[in-house]
Amino acid sequence: MPATVVVGTQWGDEGKGKLTDLLAGEMDVVVRYQGGHNAGHTIVIDGETFALQLCPSGIFYPHITPVIGNGVVVDPATLIDEVDGLAARGIDTSRLVVSGNAHLIMPYHQELDRVTERYLGKNSLGTTKRGIGPAYADKAARVGLRVQDLLDPKIFRQKLEVALKEKNAVLAKVYNRLPLSADEIAERYLGEHAPRIAPLIGDTVSVVHDALDAGRHVLLEGAQATFLDLDHGTYPFVTSSNPVAGGACTGTGLGPRDIDRVLGIAKAYITRVGAGPFPTELHDDLGALLVERGHEFGTVTGRRRRTGWFDAVMARQAVRLNSLTEVALTKLDVLDTFETVKVCVAYEADGVRYERPPYHQSVLHQVTPVYEELPGWRTDLTGVTAHADLPDAACRYVEFLAEQIGVPVRLVGVGPGREQFVSFATA
Ligand code: IMP
Repeated sequence: MPATVVVGTQWGDEGKGKLTDLLAGEMDVVVRYQGGHNAGHTIVIDGETFALQLCPSGIFYPHITPVIGNGVVVDPATLIDEVDGLAARGIDTSRLVVSGNAHLIMPYHQELDRVTERYLGKNSLGTTKRGIGPAYADKAARVGLRVQDLLDPKIFRQKLEVALKEKNAVLAKVYNRLPLSADEIAERYLGEHAPRIAPLIGDTVSVVHDALDAGRHVLLEGAQATFLDLDHGTYPFVTSSNPVAGGACTGTGLGPRDIDRVLGIAKAYITRVGAGPFPTELHDDLGALLVERGHEFGTVTGRRRRTGWFDAVMARQAVRLNSLTEVALTKLDVLDTFETVKVCVAYEADGVRYERPPYHQSVLHQVTPVYEELPGWRTDLTGVTAHADLPDAACRYVEFLAEQIGVPVRLVGVGPGREQFVSFATA
């Protein structure tokens, strides 16, 4: 039984958590494959709001095995807090399995993320300051500590000392910060965190493959999104992992033939947190209205998100980069009060029309969006439960997006609740 990937098609915060949670009913295993606690997945269940940073959304279902794959970077304190927080609210987290190959976020990663962002000044990337970039950098430089190192105090200590020697030199000499103590870090990680994390560590590659071999359904849950991808996003304004569907293979230990469904999540408009190009960004009252109606503030950092019209140029590219088989459109209800709605169908720069993102990013920074304007529906969609009950103008908008991007829209979100999704049959 091949696996399904859920991936964000924009700059994040498309509502992946809610979608994965919705699909979880039919899934047996749900895997997070990249990122760390920079992600924030909000799920509303029976009117109660849950915000997850590390645990896969499937954790709320007793029949699901939630997995944190090897591609994730794990801050152990956050993981323990999250597990304890869920347990305190009656959620059973005992089935959670964490890959021993996942890398650990260390205190010096968080410190370096903070000081480098400050040091970059007006060129800062607007990271979440969770230590994500420095942790992945150490993984690539082969000086990272892995979750499995928590099981071997001697190795942990050895690796920590090698890494810390260099980090302390950088912190002190470049950034004028106080050095961190290996003893304090070892005490916290080995003394406090290891006993809590050890029972969660498992062979996640076998867990996932055994499930697929047994004909079970596996869902691979992306964090961040296509245009925050380290390779395919708007570099350097990206995260340090691969949210695209290909990252689900490396971050889990699957081959491409193990996946047959790639579900892209797109907001009915678009948002971005942090710096970087954003061709359809709105700087006017309509942008502020999207922030207000869409509650566009980051789950993790509380930052106000930048907002803009739906960008079909980027969505078309997301189809290619992820082999999308279908799209779920979220937050359509946020546009309920709009007189008209615009969709960016192409870009223009220096008299050239672009149907796909220009290859050279300097051009992307200069493009002007070419819009099609469609009538709004001026109707409250939040109570709609069937395609047939959507107003014509709302259907037309969704169908127009599907035509523009070239894959069917199968689901439309009309509110924050788990049940506020309408099955949509694109014409
Ligand atoms: P980092 O992942 O903390 O290194 O941040 C790099 C960029 O990705 C910044 O622009 C962040 O705002 C953005 N980012 C990271 N995680 C998320 C997310 O879950 N949603 C939206 N943007 C994110």
